[in-house]
Amino acid sequence: MLKRIAVLVSGGGTNLQALIDAQKSGIITSGAITLVVSNNPDAYALERAKNAGIDTAVVNKKECIGQADFEEKLIDVLEKNETDFIVLAGFMCILSENFTSKYSDRIINVHPSLIPSFCGKGFYGLHVHEAALSYGVKVTGATVHFVNEIPDGGKIIMQKAVYIQDGDTPEILQRRVMEEAEWIILPQAVEKICKESFK
Ligand code: GAR
Repeated sequence: MLKRIAVLVSGGGTNLQALIDAQKSGIITSGAITLVVSNNPDAYALERAKNAGIDTAVVNKKECIGQADFEEKLIDVLEKNETDFIVLAGFMCILSENFTSKYSDRIINVHPSLIPSFCGKGFYGLHVHEAALSYGVKVTGATVHFVNEIPDGGKIIMQKAVYIQDGDTPEILQRRVMEEAEWIILPQAVEKICKESFK
């Protein structure tokens, strides 16, 4: 049986698109994306899912009464979907231990830096690349890791380095990190964990 994968998103969903494309091209064969869940009803990622014929759900954090209520609603849609693995692909909400312990070793996240640099609370999206450029590092990259109660603190599954170039802005660097690292290692990591779970 293919592992049932739910992808959690908040925005544009280019990493979700990379997963959909990897499923079509045969890079992901041990699992299937069965649900895309967004905390943001306006996320373009939801359109990408619909275009690919994948079920979607919205759990609008703004309409929830706090973190516990938000997570309960998330768990409800995930359970109804009989989710085996959860992929955070540009999901901009922190999940508590209550949630992460329920899916121990079954949640992975893609982060746009080489962890342990530029990660943890406050480091998300473009902020990560702003921080890397302002520090002056010459190499950055992306990391796929398991998710536990420590933000960006779970076991690392894969990393890929990307060189900084003269003239990089946070936006230019963000795009290169996606193209050269995130969109490659996220599908590979998803296949790896789904495949290993059969052993
Ligand atoms: C990606 O760069 C992802 O690594 C990052 O947000 C972007 C989402 O883009 N995630 C984080 O910073 C999480 N800490 P996408 O919606 O186009 O995939």
